[in-house]
Amino acid sequence: MKKLMILGAGIYQVPLIKKAKELGLYTIAVSIKGNYPGFAFADEVCYVDTTDIDAVLALAKEKQIDGICTSGTDVAIPAIGKVCDEMGLPGISYQAALMASNKSDMKRCFMEHGVSTAKYFIAHSENEAMDFMDQLEFPVIFKAVDTSGSRGIMRVNEKDVDQVRKAIENIKSVTKKDFFIIEEFIEGVEFGAQALIAKGELKFVMPHGDYVFVGDTGVPVGHYVPYDLPEDVFKESIRQVKLSAQAMQLDNCAMNVDFILKEDQVYMLEVGARAGATCLCEMVEIYYQTDFYKMIIQTALGEELSSINFDHCVPNVCKLFLAEKTGIIEQIEIPKIEDDRIFDLSFDYQPGDHVKKFRIGPDRIGQIIVKGKTLEEAVELMEAVMKDVKVTIREQGEH
Ligand SMILES: Nc1ncnc2c1ncn2[C@@H]1O[C@H](COP(=O)(O)OP(=O)(O)O)[C@@H](O)[C@H]1O
Ligand SMILES: [Mg+2]
Repeated sequence: MKKLMILGAGIYQVPLIKKAKELGLYTIAVSIKGNYPGFAFADEVCYVDTTDIDAVLALAKEKQIDGICTSGTDVAIPAIGKVCDEMGLPGISYQAALMASNKSDMKRCFMEHGVSTAKYFIAHSENEAMDFMDQLEFPVIFKAVDTSGSRGIMRVNEKDVDQVRKAIENIKSVTKKDFFIIEEFIEGVEFGAQALIAKGELKFVMPHGDYVFVGDTGVPVGHYVPYDLPEDVFKESIRQVKLSAQAMQLDNCAMNVDFILKEDQVYMLEVGARAGATCLCEMVEIYYQTDFYKMIIQTALGEELSSINFDHCVPNVCKLFLAEKTGIIEQIEIPKIEDDRIFDLSFDYQPGDHVKKFRIGPDRIGQIIVKGKTLEEAVELMEAVMKDVKVTIREQGEH
């Protein structure tokens, strides 16, 4: 029996763990302790921090695993790269994994290989930042290079020392590095793409539209496919995904790509070396009528990949359920609808559970995924169903 190690046991790794079990693999879930739903489905649970590269490697060697993977999280990627390199397993290389985990290295690599990306500088201090700003067009965006989930990111609208100080303080509160980047802010429409590269071959690239919740920063709370782009922009997006994979030397991994579109010009924001969260794996599965989690596992084991149906792509849409206040769930009413276009409607919590007012992705309380003959049909049905879902929360704690 082959042994597969899955890093993370949260809501976005649960389907991967379940799939591994279904495929008859001995499944080892690795995560810090906590109330993570994936623990219940794995054959074995190891309480190791997935960002502790040496600890994960020692564990992988001890367990003599045959493959290692994750989905929906960036923090575990360097450990995956290290294990693949050291144990000779199929999967991303350590070098590529580090590249995908550091925004300044990634940007440098993009620039060197002609990937379209916003102009930027690396700065170490307030003075350097002030100087570089003369060479950039406003607004600009200050970023920590080693974080994700919009942490350490702040827009600065003018060359104002107070704004710059605030942005640098924000970076310093989260980064482990002594430098950061300042890049031009692209005023456009954000969209994304899911892709998979295995044995040097890009298997698919699926651009998708994003629904964004605007709080402290933008947080994706849903997606839809297909994403209607002019033909030349579509082709250019695919070309950019290919270029970035070559530039970063990504192989044997999924890709989660963030783009901004401004006047028919696409800019690559960043590439994650893993499949996206927020239902994106399920969306790929529906769109291409394939089994994406299985493909991620096959990639990690160096096996032949399942087939993809490019001929009859199925439009679909997803959204997260968000709590409007922090408190205890009193009741969840879900309408009884028998409709096979509803691929999933599920909640992460039950009455009696404590939930948080939505601010960031992990605050989600549930999800809905709907397919249709057309995207319009899917969106219409999703909205109708969501209107009839009633979640009652008794307010408690922070507001
Ligand atoms: N150059 C930019 N122009 C406009 N918006 C940006 C730019 N860079 C980042 N953003 C905004 O900040 C968000 C997070 O930035 P990103 O570089 O993707 O970091 P993270 O790893 O936190 O997702 C993006 O999704 C986008 O909304
Ligand atoms: Mg991002």
